[in-house]
Amino acid sequence: MSANPFLDRALVHGDLYRGAARLVHRTQALHQAKISGRDAAVTIADLLAARLPPDPVVLDIGCGRGTTALHLATRLRPHRLVAVDASAALLTATRDRLDEAGAAASVVRADFHHLPLPNRVADAAVAAFCLYHSPTPATAVAEIARCLRPGGTAVLVTKSLDSYVEFDHLVHAAGLDPHARQRPSLYESFHSGNLHEIATTSLTVLDIRHEEHVFRFADAAHLAQYLATTPKYRITPAGGAVALAAILRQRLPAPPYTARSTVSFAVAVRL
Ligand SMILES: C[S@@+](CC[C@H](N)C(=O)[O-])C[C@H]1O[C@@H](n2cnc3c(N)ncnc32)[C@H](O)[C@@H]1O
Repeated sequence: MSANPFLDRALVHGDLYRGAARLVHRTQALHQAKISGRDAAVTIADLLAARLPPDPVVLDIGCGRGTTALHLATRLRPHRLVAVDASAALLTATRDRLDEAGAAASVVRADFHHLPLPNRVADAAVAAFCLYHSPTPATAVAEIARCLRPGGTAVLVTKSLDSYVEFDHLVHAAGLDPHARQRPSLYESFHSGNLHEIATTSLTVLDIRHEEHVFRFADAAHLAQYLATTPKYRITPAGGAVALAAILRQRLPAPPYTARSTVSFAVAVRL
């Protein structure tokens, strides 16, 4: 396994996104804990809304289980939404959600480094929380730029290197992973600090904005639900969220446990 699980090709194209369950549990644990910070899908739609021509074609690259795609489809009502991802299972989940919403949409299984889409096909493209899975995110940005019409807008979204760093200390303090504090950030290839530099390799950046999110985990069970979904640590003993909660309860100071993340958005155009 690579030192960074988010850059481990076998893991990313295998267990990590083989099904929707991990993402669902992670999102639920985070949403339940969130005490401040806007929904990223809402911010993305806000950033695009003012820039779209009538009846636009919109791409959602690395769509996952379609949370952003669904919001774009219902809020912006594009002429066509095309959701792209490498995971067949997540594309099925996305397609089901888009169908249920009656969206004019299609799904495409592809690697974002080689999009099977024509040049200049889209008015807008979103790549949210996915380009940090690439060791060469500029290659994917070049593909996104190729698919945009001149004047088309991309919204690229990622997190800061130190997002959720508080968990490193909690996992270490609980004796679950002695190297927790040395593990590389999951976002090391594409993060708030290099977002501008990577976006400008193929696009003209109009705006970069950062939003702070704060999470408060009420008890050990809630914290364990989240930790069971992150591939960052080598947690032993394995045993799922219930076993993890028992250990956390025993070894950590009293809850609540607080963590922070920074979500960064680049708005960029193809000239
Ligand atoms: C955290 S999920 C994305 C969430 C989604 N964009 C949203 O806003 O709800 C990351 C996604 O990136 C996809 N992915 C990772 N590497 C990829 C690649 N090389 N090509 C296409 N998709 C990829 C994964 O399959 C996964 O669905």
